[in-house]
Amino acid sequence: MADAHTEKPLAGKHVVISSGGTREALDPVRYLGNRSSGKQGVALAEVAAQQGADVTLIAGAMDIPAPEHPNITVVHIESTRELLDAVLNHARAKDALIMAAAVADFRPATITSDKIKKQDGASAPTIVLEQTEDVLKTTVEQRAAGEPLPRVIVGFAAETGDATTTPLEYGRAKLQRKGCEILVVNEVGVGKVFGQDDNDATIIFANGSPDVPIKGTKTAVAAEIIDQLARALA
Ligand code: CTP
Ligand code: CA
Repeated sequence: MADAHTEKPLAGKHVVISSGGTREALDPVRYLGNRSSGKQGVALAEVAAQQGADVTLIAGAMDIPAPEHPNITVVHIESTRELLDAVLNHARAKDALIMAAAVADFRPATITSDKIKKQDGASAPTIVLEQTEDVLKTTVEQRAAGEPLPRVIVGFAAETGDATTTPLEYGRAKLQRKGCEILVVNEVGVGKVFGQDDNDATIIFANGSPDVPIKGTKTAVAAEIIDQLARALA
């Protein structure tokens, strides 16, 4: 039997991780999607499993295959609505949720059942969008309403700065808005983060713990996030 000194930091914990991008159908053959590679979520799942956790990986569209590991169960989703259902279902009674997925903010307001055709001389169709469910915020709200959802919820934020506000300041405001315990703030711009192996991020905490800046590959970033998660769960 393992003693307290050799036990892995996430032994006995169940961590749910969302990964990749959501796709929102427009008609039977087309969708709105995003450039998320899924690399960060997969790296998180692998590190969490190495650290002893049971992992449920809720995977949207990814450029890489889902990991094969005895402690990782993969659940595939496509749309934001499916992601919300999967998170509320699979995160029940689990210890932690990490929302690394790039979730669509908007979806076509109607999905046509037949493929949209072009017509000679006719103008191009207009796509009307509606806002999607906020999976992270909904999960935090349902937990506050008494549902048995994870006590540590980690969000991600991809932020660009502007003349008045830094990416980190936008991140702090988002942490408050979302109500989660931990937020990983990535600075994004053209060529930054999406699909790349390297990452620049800062982990910020709702409980006032000092910021943790991280630099390096997505695996290094994942290791730091999982380390901070293990501390929060200890
Ligand atoms: N997220 C979510 N559901 C959404 C949109 C985002 O659960 N519909 C989650 C993401 O997985 C991420 C966090 O919320 O963990 C922050 O995502 P982000 O896109 O940065 O925040 P938004 O609230 O969508 O704000 P905006 O894109 O306008 O900055
Ligand atoms: Ca968004």
